[in-house]
Amino acid sequence: MKLLVVGGAGYVGSHTVRLLARAGHQVWVYDNLSQGHRAAVSGESLIVGELADTGLLQQALAELQIDAVLHFAALALVGESMADPARYWINNVAGTLSLLEAMRASGVSRIVFSSTTATYGVPEQMPIVETTRQQPINPYGLTKLVIEQALGDYARSYGFAYAALRYFNAAGADPDGTLGEDHDPETHLIPLVLQVPLGQRDEIAIFGDDYPTLDGTCVRDYVHVNDLARAHLAALERLQPGIGLALNLGSGRGYSVLEVIEACRRVTGHAVPVRFAPRRPGDPPELVADARLARQQLGWQPEYVEIESIVETAWRWHRSHPRGYDD
Ligand code: UFG
Repeated sequence: MKLLVVGGAGYVGSHTVRLLARAGHQVWVYDNLSQGHRAAVSGESLIVGELADTGLLQQALAELQIDAVLHFAALALVGESMADPARYWINNVAGTLSLLEAMRASGVSRIVFSSTTATYGVPEQMPIVETTRQQPINPYGLTKLVIEQALGDYARSYGFAYAALRYFNAAGADPDGTLGEDHDPETHLIPLVLQVPLGQRDEIAIFGDDYPTLDGTCVRDYVHVNDLARAHLAALERLQPGIGLALNLGSGRGYSVLEVIEACRRVTGHAVPVRFAPRRPGDPPELVADARLARQQLGWQPEYVEIESIVETAWRWHRSHPRGYDD
């Protein structure tokens, strides 16, 4: 297939692009490089453009005779979305509508969309299944939920086929050490912890130790970025007119913040001093996926389940790229 990967220079996008190309697809990346990295898309054709630029998107879709779109481009920080929700509505919602309209105008109707566990808010049941009530507690999760609903309408009325993939905590890096996580600012737990053995940080703050969990710290389901990439490839192959899939992508195993830090200690062989800090607003105590539907629908299951194996790949990347892509 000829594929346009919007946001393909970002963390999950770039890993997926590599896998799609290896699977024999023809891939173009469309990215504004606000968070993505030019160095993460070496080899594929890069179109630098804005999501809001419906005309440029339409031109790319038509001229390249694109068969399907994978849409990763989004602002994705919970705290930032609380402080400045307008940016999230404009970029995530209005931006995605611009993409959907460009697709409609060019007759492209297949899309794989990056959704999130943040659409569930503080879930009523654990592990989370796809029918667990979606009640986001921050603007980020709400913008992703609204887009899922728009996709439902586009499927019903315009014959779109979509897969909304609800990621749990994306983590790790390509094991070959050439692609990885590089956010500015970095807010995610594993890359922040690994800054300690890299000598870039003295300690890690643990946000809350009084949650109703095994050791009082938040529990998350860490899913390897290459496992996410494989799910996109499988979802793409399932898209038929009128099909709408919404699937959880997680490993099904929960790890507490303290367990993740301990795994980083073991993998790096370096002590990681910790400091207990207040809870971070907007953090649910526990988020763990029931990903059986993705297994049924896509034949997908994660290859990385043990947290050490995920941290090992992240460590390989950060050790060899202490300043990220350095661009
Ligand atoms: N944490 C710390 N100290 C830090 C950083 C994180 O204790 O310095 C904790 C957080 O409080 C949280 C856990 O580590 O309990 C994981 O935090 P991350 O920031 O790595 O990930 P989140 O779970 O907050 O975020 C992920 C995705 C978001 C998504 C969110 C849904 O990255 O895109 O899950 O809750 F919206």
